[in-house]
Amino acid sequence: LIVPENTMKWKNIRPTKTFWNWSDMDNMVDFAEKNGMVIRGHTFVWHQQNAPYVDSLKTKDEAVAMLTEQITMVMERYKGRVFEYDVANEVLNEDGTLRDTVWLRTIGPEYIDIAFKAARAADPKARLVLNDYSNEYAGTAKGDAFYELCKDMKNRGIPIDGAGLQLHLVAEHTFNREGLLAQIRRFAELGMFVTFTEIDVRIAMPSSPEKEAQQTEIFKGLMEIAATEPNTGHFVVWGYTDAKSWIPGTFPGYGSAHLFDKASQPKPVFEDLKKILADSPKRKK
Ligand code: XIL
Repeated sequence: LIVPENTMKWKNIRPTKTFWNWSDMDNMVDFAEKNGMVIRGHTFVWHQQNAPYVDSLKTKDEAVAMLTEQITMVMERYKGRVFEYDVANEVLNEDGTLRDTVWLRTIGPEYIDIAFKAARAADPKARLVLNDYSNEYAGTAKGDAFYELCKDMKNRGIPIDGAGLQLHLVAEHTFNREGLLAQIRRFAELGMFVTFTEIDVRIAMPSSPEKEAQQTEIFKGLMEIAATEPNTGHFVVWGYTDAKSWIPGTFPGYGSAHLFDKASQPKPVFEDLKKILADSPKRKK
């Protein structure tokens, strides 16, 4: 499974209102198909990496038309070839309120419904996901608000299929396995799946054997859950090698967040994960 880290984001796929840069995404879809991989689409609604003409949208009508057109154009083009999309990304603040974005300011809270409805209409078979970070634990302000938002959408018949947990975690923070399981299981009760969409486990530099052990435990804990909980299964990492990582630039002082080291060699945890996967009850079926 592969994900366009930046290629499908607004400023890259449609840098000006009239210019659609299809070639990079077309190449990626071809590459996936030639190599027996599937693609997750990422992402339409976001507050970052938008083109300037998006950030300067003023009226509701304009914004609805722009958002609908974006989703429709991309999803119709890749119909049946991209199996799942992060329709909206990071719409919540840490306290669980809706983030102040161009979409909220111009359209109001219903922009989320509008985006999901446009996505369902454009490719009815694609799985539609709401994605966020720090939303993985039941019992936190953001984790609970994220769940309530999805539940409310479901109850109102808005076409949402899955919850995306980015899981950009920190090795030194406690891994709350029970909180994560509770979050996943209440999504199951809603009839929704959960995708682990952007896993990395960053370490405050310099690293130490102790921190690496904590990182290993987190990666293993996530894989154990992905390998057993019925409504999860995709364990997607946000970059696989420390040699090419978004972490040091975004979180200064942090690094070593991925499964492969700076020489692109697998870390010991990689074998642990393969074993968990091989032993998965889902596999044996
Ligand atoms: C990041 C990319 O990895 C970087 O290359 C880019 O400069 C900024 O965006 N959450 C998301 C991703 O949903 O799209 C972000 O990707 C990382 C955080």
